[in-house]
This record gives sequence, C-alpha cells and structure tokens, in this order.
Amino acid sequence: MTRRPPLTARVHELLSSVLRHGDTAVDATAGNGLDTLFLCRAVGVDGHVYALDLQAAALDATRRRLHAAGMLARTRLIQADHAELLAVLGHELQGRVRAVTFNLGYLPGSDREVVTSAASTVPALRQASTLLMPGGRMSILAYTGHPGGHLEARAVEEWANALGRPFLVREVRPPGTPEAAPRLLVVDR
Ligand SMILES: C[S@@+](CC[C@H](N)C(=O)[O-])C[C@H]1O[C@@H](n2cnc3c(N)ncnc32)[C@H](O)[C@@H]1O
Repeated sequence: MTRRPPLTARVHELLSSVLRHGDTAVDATAGNGLDTLFLCRAVGVDGHVYALDLQAAALDATRRRLHAAGMLARTRLIQADHAELLAVLGHELQGRVRAVTFNLGYLPGSDREVVTSAASTVPALRQASTLLMPGGRMSILAYTGHPGGHLEARAVEEWANALGRPFLVREVRPPGTPEAAPRLLVVDR
C-alpha cells in the first residue's frame, strides 16, 4: 500500500506546479526552513525568496539549512511579524510574487511559547494576497491540535471564503483525511 504524503508534501507539489525559475516567492513562517529550502530550489539560481519568522531561533535553523544547501544567496531572511509583511517587504513587490506559503502553528521542537494566531495571521494573509501576481498561488496550512488552533483555522477559512475575484479558493482534503488533520487552503490568483 502506498503511504499518502503528508500535507506539507502536497503543499510543495501544489506550489511546484506554478513556480518557475527566476520567480520571487515568500515563506511567511520560515520555521526550520524546510519550506524555504523547497522555494529556493523551485525559483532557481536567478530567483528570490523572502523568508520571515518572529523567532531568531527559527531563522538560525533556516540559515543553517540554506547554507548547507548552498542557497543562502537567493534568500532574504527577515525577523519580523508577518502582520507587517508589506511594510517589511516593500509595496513594490505587490503583484510580483508567484508563490506565498504559510505553515502556521509553532516551531517544531520549540517550547511552543511562540505560535501563530488569528490576530496576526489574518492581516498577514490579507497583505500576502496583494503580493500575488496573476497566475500566482498561496498555500495556507492551519493546524487545529494546539490551543487557539481551531480559532485560527476558522478565521483563516472565513477570510478565504470572503475573497472574491480575481482569487479562487479551495480546500485540499485528500479522501479519508481525519477531521482533526490540518486544513490546507489554496488561493489562486
Ligand atoms: C509550523 S512553523 C513553520 C514551519 C516551516 N515552514 C518549516 O518548513 O520548517 C510556524 C512558524 O511560525 C512562526 N511564527 C509564529 N507567529 C508568527 C508571526 N506572527 N509572524 C511570523 N512568524 C510567526 C513560528 O516562530 C514558527 O517558526
């Protein structure tokens, strides 16, 4: 029997299908850098990846991972709240980004003191949607197993469901996914 890939692998497949070499991409929750590394590979040597995280520990882990892979030069690592996304990246990036990814929750292996929450996630999503170029895609993986996770996931869904044209929103939920599994939303422009 083939094991179903975890939803993070599904995120990478979904973003791979739109990303091209030379693109600009944003990882709004860098964490341990797995998603940032994936984006770096997908945009190639001429591409650019902006990776944000609130925690220095997360950016250190991401920096080490990218350095080991020889991909630090195409990345800008930024310690910031993603609720300040546009101010931090610059408004000139609006409409110029092919892919944005949000992998919400806490830093795996941390004390879980820092965790994403609706109060900053929803403004961050709103700003991130303005970065997307036509043909761009945003993925949002929201976990429900930690305190506040359900509230955040519901706020993300409400935000996404209220999006109108030019955006198209869908939930990716492989058959047999348990109710408690993370929610994966995809926003296409
Ligand atoms: C599940 S982890 C991300 C996993 C990561 N994408 C990877 O590939 O390893 C969530 C991250 O979001 C960060 N975070 C929490 N609140 C944030 C905020 N308001 N702005 C930016 N990052 C935040 C946490 O510090 C944590 O590192």
